[in-house]
Amino acid sequence: MPSIPTVMERGDYEDYESLPKPRTIKGGESMRVIVADDYEIMSKEAAKIVADQIRKRRDSVFALPTGGTPVGLYAELIRMHKEEGLDFSRVFMFNLDEYIGLPEDHESSYHFYMYDKFFNHVNVTRDKVHIPHGLAEDPEEEAADYEWAIKRVGGIDLGVLGIGRNGHIGFNEPKTEFGSSTRPIYLAKRTIEANARFFEGDHEAVPRRAISMGIRTIMNSRKIILLANGTEKSHAIYQTVHGPVTEMVPSSVLQLHPDCTLILDKDAACELEPSPNGFVPGRGIRTMVY
Ligand code: GLP
Repeated sequence: MPSIPTVMERGDYEDYESLPKPRTIKGGESMRVIVADDYEIMSKEAAKIVADQIRKRRDSVFALPTGGTPVGLYAELIRMHKEEGLDFSRVFMFNLDEYIGLPEDHESSYHFYMYDKFFNHVNVTRDKVHIPHGLAEDPEEEAADYEWAIKRVGGIDLGVLGIGRNGHIGFNEPKTEFGSSTRPIYLAKRTIEANARFFEGDHEAVPRRAISMGIRTIMNSRKIILLANGTEKSHAIYQTVHGPVTEMVPSSVLQLHPDCTLILDKDAACELEPSPNGFVPGRGIRTMVY
């Protein structure tokens, strides 16, 4: 097995001041931002992009997120499957991440989430569904195998992302190297606090580690969409679009991607500056280019 660089990040980033300055890169690609009037419209816009990708290439490879944000997207894709015959049978699915230490049938595991919210309701082919194994004996080997599994099918066509309040994508917390591949990570304190709501509010129950696709793995996607809703994400979105490209805000790396679209509700977009290129293609939606 070729060795894959492993970055083990500690989550206690309060004392960042004392750490050496992270790399900052200036400049980048233009970023498309779709601002939808509400969560439902946001979810439908994202679902259209996913469906278009499948129609364009039936055996497309997807990276998929968990969390509260994509629930509406998955519901709309289920509807499209049932009412419009959207066919998932040849599609490859790769989850962005999974907690280390949770069995697949644990209700807070990402395995459970993905099957419960999405896979059980569409015609995915089970052996084309990939989620890191949280109970793998050797998480590093599991992560390296996962990275190779993505490469073997030709890489990700469409990476679908959510975003943490601290700008994490997947579980790539602040200070993650942009060159990182799939590997075991430590969750940031802020992420543990935010995700406690999926563990009946019990911070202690949230696993401290996870296996996550790396920033490089995500950036190698041919196309990326990132979904965010709610004011609690608005500052992370501001930093993603207008901030410097820095490892302190992992999502800022998306400024360097040649085909990245943010799909937001109004609340998540509320801190964005007006775009000189903004236009209004349809009711309830505005597309801006930065
Ligand atoms: C989690 C996941 C991310 C997700 C993010 C936002 O920790 N690892 O993939 O995008 O946090 O979650 P939510 O949509 O619930 O705000």
